[in-house]
Amino acid sequence: MLANANRVMPDTLKFEGDKNFFSSALDHADLIVHGRNSGEGQTNSAKRKRVILTRGVSSLARDPSNPRAVLWNPQGASFEDACGFAGVLRGTIAIIGGPIVFGMFMDRYDTFFLSQAPRVRLPGGQGCFPGVPERTPQQILASHGLNAGEPVTLDAADEVSVTPWRRDTTAYTSP
Ligand SMILES: NC(=O)c1ccc[n+]([C@@H]2O[C@H](COP(=O)([O-])OP(=O)(O)OC[C@H]3O[C@@H](n4cnc5c(N)ncnc54)[C@H](OP(=O)(O)O)[C@@H]3O)[C@@H](O)[C@H]2O)c1
Repeated sequence: MLANANRVMPDTLKFEGDKNFFSSALDHADLIVHGRNSGEGQTNSAKRKRVILTRGVSSLARDPSNPRAVLWNPQGASFEDACGFAGVLRGTIAIIGGPIVFGMFMDRYDTFFLSQAPRVRLPGGQGCFPGVPERTPQQILASHGLNAGEPVTLDAADEVSVTPWRRDTTAYTSP
């Protein structure tokens, strides 16, 4: 679960080690992508270029409340067009959720960083991807061609860890 039954990410799901990992990773990204109810809320957030998914626009528009943000409706424009509109033609893109947005990019991740807090329970909460909890997040990532690497501990006291799931590009041989 990435949010509780009220569709809010509760404080019980927030850990210093995970926040630090997330924030330093985003400092190395050239573009952030997320749904209308998501956002990282960090010190450097205002400096970052971002694409926000919404059906509130027909294709692409500047966000009137943030000069560095672009509003994007995938029905009206491709992701490549959205990146170009945001002024990013190459670099690292961080997809930061929520679940619908994560699901849309499942076949395009080079790496998905799956953080887990095994002691937290959010009954009736929002699964991190479409199809959770019927399937586990790990089953879904594997079904999209991603493979688990070694987990790294982010917060030992609460057993919080992050596992990189990477696409095995070596398995592809060109015809
Ligand atoms: N724990 C975590 O790490 C984590 C990470 C990310 C998010 N979250 C939580 O997840 C919850 C949901 O976040 P979210 O609503 O931003 O993400 P989401 O559920 O993935 O996306 C929903 C939003 O994105 C837009 N959207 C979805 N599908 C679309 C489509 N096909 N075309 C155009 N726009 C589309 C919609 O905006 P409109 O309604 O404007 O059309 C909708 O409000 C929040 O509580 C957030 O805090 C938690």
